[in-house]
Amino acid sequence: MRLLVCGGAGFIGSTFVRLRLREHGDQVTVLDKLTYAGRRENLHDVLSELRFIEGAIEDPDAVADALAGCEAIVNFAAETHVDRSIAEPVTFTITNMQGTHTLLEAARDRGLRYVQVSTDEVYGSIAQGSFTESSPLQPSSPYSATKSGADLLVSSYFHTYGLEAMICRGSNNYGPYQHPEKLIPLMILNALAGDRLPVYGDGLNVRNWLFAEDFGGGVGHVLAHGVPGEAYNCGGPDECDNLAVVRRIVELTGAEESLIEYVPDRPGHDRRYSLSSEKLRALGWEPRTRFDQGLARTVEWYRKNAWWWEPVRSGAYREYYERHYGRALKG
Ligand code: NAD
Ligand code: DAU
Repeated sequence: MRLLVCGGAGFIGSTFVRLRLREHGDQVTVLDKLTYAGRRENLHDVLSELRFIEGAIEDPDAVADALAGCEAIVNFAAETHVDRSIAEPVTFTITNMQGTHTLLEAARDRGLRYVQVSTDEVYGSIAQGSFTESSPLQPSSPYSATKSGADLLVSSYFHTYGLEAMICRGSNNYGPYQHPEKLIPLMILNALAGDRLPVYGDGLNVRNWLFAEDFGGGVGHVLAHGVPGEAYNCGGPDECDNLAVVRRIVELTGAEESLIEYVPDRPGHDRRYSLSSEKLRALGWEPRTRFDQGLARTVEWYRKNAWWWEPVRSGAYREYYERHYGRALKG
């Protein structure tokens, strides 16, 4: 296929691009604003095999330019970090909602197939059982509220204009190339450096972990086989509370468990996410990587790829880290 991948220089977007080039032989154009989270380095091994446009999804001219010759749009571009959405929410509305709206208009004008990459967070928290695609949207954070708004816009473009649009909602991803602001890479890099491991609240919030390559496969399945107007959940095979994740990282890195430090909880922190992925499994998708195996691979990747994370950890991220954790951490 001739694909426009928006947000293809981010963590999951770059994983998806690699998969499409290597396993499907697609022609790929990436449109990415290269925010603090997006880097050409995420595509270092495939940059020469794709067309790269630096630009914002909320900019109709950049979108028109990027879309030349494309048959379908897959939209990963977003502001994605819940903590940043609590501190500075407005950018989230611009990228996640206005940006999605701009892409939908472009897809409508050209009659293109469209996949919106979304999240389990749109459903809010669930104490027991799992969310299905017909569960109500009850987002808790500014991040998940803007992702829910985007999902509703996508559905409206199917109902109103007949756009061939689908939504794929993933659970918590992890793997190589994930920005160190997120739980797993943050804990791996802090553990390797002997820095403190800041666990929010009691550490018993539960997440449903999905290896990013498996999510890339799920999004690909929706692109190829999804029914227009439908949403598909794409959940990981294992759930785990945060403390257990951090303890496993301590074991894998050989760090001291005494580095674990409880810090004040995230406001509005969802307790548990869980997705039923039966609908996507019925299209033939299944996750290949169990959490324990994927986590060990991820730790190894960060150990071996300091060239990738050293510039991130020493740049603007340091300021963010001091601002966000500085007062909470004792050490
Ligand atoms: P990321 O933060 O690593 O990457 C986001 C990418 O989008 C970056 O390359 C960034 O430069 C780009 N971007 C941001 N604003 C843009 C704009 N206005 N115009 C163009 N590009 C812009 O995010 P990720 O973790 O790879 O997430 C990708 C998608 O998957 C997001 O839509 C997210 O909501 C969704 N998702 C993520 C997870 C997860 O656990 N990380 C789980 C489920 C769904
Ligand atoms: O569930 C899917 C979502 O997963 C995606 O839609 C988001 O884009 C992605 O960022 C992620 O959101 P989370 O808030 O679940 O991920 P994060 O890595 O920020 O946090 C995971 C859990 O770990 C959460 O319960 C908060 C906790 N946490 C996080 C950080 C960064 C800590 O205890 N300490 C930390 O320092």
